Amino acid sequence: MKAVPYVDMAAQFAAERDTLMPLVESVLAGGMWVGGDAVPAFEDAAVAYTGAKHCVGVSSGTDALILSLLALDIGPGDEVITPPNSFVASTAAIAHVGATPVFADVAADQNFDPAAVAAAVTPRTRAIMPVHLTGRLCDMAGILAVARDHGLKVIEDAAQAIGAHIDGRQAGTFGDAGCFSAHPLKNLNAAGDAGFVLTDDDALADRLRRLRNNGLVDRDTVVEWGFVSRLDSLQAVILSHRLGYLDTVIAARRANADRYRAGLDPAHVFVPEDAPNSFATYHTFVIQVDRRDALKEYLAGMGIGTAIHYPVPIHLQPAARSLGHGPGDFPVAERQAGRILSLPINQHLSADDIDRVIAAVNGFFQ
Ligand SMILES: Cc1ncc(COP(=O)(O)O)c(C=O)c1O
Repeated sequence: MKAVPYVDMAAQFAAERDTLMPLVESVLAGGMWVGGDAVPAFEDAAVAYTGAKHCVGVSSGTDALILSLLALDIGPGDEVITPPNSFVASTAAIAHVGATPVFADVAADQNFDPAAVAAAVTPRTRAIMPVHLTGRLCDMAGILAVARDHGLKVIEDAAQAIGAHIDGRQAGTFGDAGCFSAHPLKNLNAAGDAGFVLTDDDALADRLRRLRNNGLVDRDTVVEWGFVSRLDSLQAVILSHRLGYLDTVIAARRANADRYRAGLDPAHVFVPEDAPNSFATYHTFVIQVDRRDALKEYLAGMGIGTAIHYPVPIHLQPAARSLGHGPGDFPVAERQAGRILSLPINQHLSADDIDRVIAAVNGFFQ
């Protein structure tokens, strides 16, 4: 029986090889492997796509978060509110700048519950870091209201959400900074690690540009200690090319999601609804089920690849021990961690592939 792979990078490269390779070759032949025109060309394209004023290419989504926190002067003594069910990088970035991650629980759709965020605010809170998990935007109206009430910065972790929008406003353009990953598994993916930050703030963009490049403002002048967190020219040219067909990737994933929604048995499979004005991009398609581990094993036996994003909430990780949390502190995120399963949703799957997964999941519960 034909396997249904969770991801299929070889299929992506096969489809774009003829158009991509001349661009890669031109960067290699041009000799500007760091710097050169490819990075600003991608940044301009990302600005045009998202409607942000600035895009600053960096070396990963994690660095996008760390540099944004630093550029907003968030550090020791400051608290940043973040969800416990994200990829670990959101919390790690807060810890890396010396600030304290403060968790707030999530809602049924796995995204921040604005009421929980409001309840987590203390006199030391400096910022909120919402995570648009799965490519579905958080309730940004609710989160921005909390930020406004308390004078807080908002740093969006939009690592999974390029192209998602609410009423036409793009992920990463709601807060002071919007941080993106272009890791190979993201919908807009590099052939290695890469990321970028969106902002409308001129001074913040300037500071991000120098922080990513050793603190240099010109060839010989260092105004503050920086990092080597630049976006590579090769990754930039690949990202520009792939941004050109991102909308077809998103459309294919949304069509797969619609097919799952229509076919999966709601008596056994919970699939969060998208708000009517919310355009989700399905970086992952996450169902919530009883007997998750048994289902995962059953599907693996049928050649169907799945994943769990993420099995252990961050507050229960060994690295978070010093924050003093234990089981029961964030009950919604903890319950979901035992029930979530990401089904294959990649853009290379056919309707038949999705139907096979639907039949297998429904069959498991019958
Ligand atoms: C929600 C979230 N935040 C941050 C990151 C970090 O991005 P990167 O792996 O590019 O450093 C990722 C991606 O892996 C992510 O999914």
